[in-house]
Amino acid sequence: MPTPIVPRSRVAALLNADAAIETVLIKGWVRTKRDAKAFSFLEVNDGSCLKNIQVIADADLPDYAGVRNITTGSAVAVTGALVASKGKGQQWEVQASSVDVVHLAPESFPLQKKRHSDEFLRTIAHLRPRTNKYGAAFRIRSEMAYAVHAFFKQRGFRYIHTPIITGSDCEGAGELFRVTTLPPGEADFQNDFFGREASLTVSGQLSVEMFALSLGDVYTFGPTFRAENSNTSRHVAEFWMIEPEMAFCDLGGNMDLAEEMVKCLVDYALTNCADDVDLFARFVDKQLRHTLETICAKDFIRLPYAEAIEILGRVKKPFEHPVAYGNDLQSEHERFLTETHFRKPVILHDYPKTIKPFYMRLNDDNKTVAAMDVLVPRVGEIIGGSQREERFDVLSARMAEMGLDEMEYAWYLDSRRYGSVPHSGFGLGFERLLMLVTGISNIRDVVPFPRTPGNIAF
Ligand code: 4AD
Ligand code: MG
Repeated sequence: MPTPIVPRSRVAALLNADAAIETVLIKGWVRTKRDAKAFSFLEVNDGSCLKNIQVIADADLPDYAGVRNITTGSAVAVTGALVASKGKGQQWEVQASSVDVVHLAPESFPLQKKRHSDEFLRTIAHLRPRTNKYGAAFRIRSEMAYAVHAFFKQRGFRYIHTPIITGSDCEGAGELFRVTTLPPGEADFQNDFFGREASLTVSGQLSVEMFALSLGDVYTFGPTFRAENSNTSRHVAEFWMIEPEMAFCDLGGNMDLAEEMVKCLVDYALTNCADDVDLFARFVDKQLRHTLETICAKDFIRLPYAEAIEILGRVKKPFEHPVAYGNDLQSEHERFLTETHFRKPVILHDYPKTIKPFYMRLNDDNKTVAAMDVLVPRVGEIIGGSQREERFDVLSARMAEMGLDEMEYAWYLDSRRYGSVPHSGFGLGFERLLMLVTGISNIRDVVPFPRTPGNIAF
């Protein structure tokens, strides 16, 4: 029996073949071509993995004249045999029996063989996934999204789809993108689509809390939007957040889940995206493997905010932003703690209430809240979370203190009226996680089409 053609055979699978295959069909894009007298070599990449597959097209092929014209970036469909390679560098190659040029790219194709800068590649975000680096980054992104769902599935968490359009500002920081159908200039929200002001969500937390108080352990994982006008390498206007929420859980249990989750996801990347992670370890961050292995192997430090302030206060080297109890930590402080001082992830907890949102549980000192942030090397804050204020009176008093309109949050307060229980959760920034596992230092480079102030091309 002849070996059947593998339908839509992908290069990733073919390169792992146990034996030669009589007929294969590969479809992909030509990375390079070299011509010899009696044949041409094509390096074809179909996006299924980092590696290209080498195709040998002999000069006696009926369509060989077309092969000679093939340019970098062209799309091809190659039929042939998967055979052991005679050359070095690859186990298998394809001896072509036909090469169909699906589309010939003109010489103007911007991705030529040399290495391009990240800045340049951002200007061609629609083509950059055709490079090794960005192909790897976006394959890892896909794998990590799967790993997030697998992590929760294994632990019995339910996935809740929280709304993208909301009427409440969860974080209370006012960095909202308004959603309206009113003509420009009009602000009569009573006549607007929803009959009141609406915006894109900054966090699914308030909604997902309602489901934790019904289904137990839940999470939401979706896009969130913040109109922060900060053009940093760690902020984008549209990002994805993973937000677990657990009923009957205090801050300690919350920190346990956060630590376990970061470890499991990093381990998943090391195990399941080894080739792609390896590319980053070789070309982007030489310390990457060491950083990731340390995260998996060592316990995270757990430290009250007040102690972190003391440590930072003793540092001789001046920081750009002053360190003082009651100030929010800046990226430079976070990175000092996790990269220089402890050299591993740090969970800071019990922050002053003045720098945290209304929903965090007030501690007995009346001064701090049961908040926690997870800091990791190179990225800084990757997770922010807390135990939630479950006491109706305390929550209502906090809202009044912070000038929030109770009517707007009546539904949220209701959950503290009927069967309120201690509960906790956090938000893990998906892009920050990808920065961690790839070593990529600018968040714009882990987002397919990043949205930042002044930039909505593509
Ligand atoms: O610390 P944040 O603001 O926490 C919340 O939104 C909580 N409601 C989450 C919760 O308890 N359910 O944001 C959580 C994480 C940050 O630690 C960071 O990783 C990421 O979201 N993040 C951003 N990532 C990219 N661009 C931005 N502009 C981000 N803002 C926050
Ligand atoms: Mg935060």
